[in-house]
Amino acid sequence: MKTIVFASNNAHKLEEIRAILGNKFEIKSLKDIGCDADIPETGVTFRENALQKAQYVKEHYNLDCFADDSGLQVEALNGEPGVYSARYATINGCEVTKENKDDVNMNVLLEKLSNNTERKACFRTSIALVLGEEIHYFDGVVEGTITTDKRGEGGFGYDPIFMPDGYDKTFAELGNDIKNHISHRARAVAKLAEFLSNI
Ligand code: IMP
Repeated sequence: MKTIVFASNNAHKLEEIRAILGNKFEIKSLKDIGCDADIPETGVTFRENALQKAQYVKEHYNLDCFADDSGLQVEALNGEPGVYSARYATINGCEVTKENKDDVNMNVLLEKLSNNTERKACFRTSIALVLGEEIHYFDGVVEGTITTDKRGEGGFGYDPIFMPDGYDKTFAELGNDIKNHISHRARAVAKLAEFLSNI
């Protein structure tokens, strides 16, 4: 069986990827290869950040690797929060804790959109795969709108304020079964899986 590294320690993401690719590839996490570095993510696009992580593993461990980077893009805010999704509140001058970070990120976004009726947004994931000398990208997008208030208890991040097109519930209300079928991450992972199953 071929070995490939997924440059992440996120247990949920690893489980998802192993469920899809586990019969063909041994998927190793950063921890599995003994990497505890805080790999820099200094890009201005999701693809750049994903590639930075995957190339770090290739350079330091000489192993084939893929990595992902995701976030929310709001049209009326010129694509913000984008690559800054995880630290949007902080870069807007708010102090956050690990516990309230998602909540404050959403407050900042709702505040910026408060008088705006144009609320189109999308979640985007880019996966970069470094395979030998080759680099491949796989992007997944889910379009939707930003609600005016938070709804639902499920999910994480911006899920309570994102309503995907074709549904009248937020990601947090829809639950993981539906979300995992239509999400940006699911769509990017499906493209990666399709590619890897053909090599
Ligand atoms: P990551 O690159 O997957 O770690 O995502 C970066 C940030 O984007 C997260 O910390 C969240 O704030 C946001 N984000 C990414 N994917 C989702 C999602 O599926 N739901 C809600 N927020 C998300």
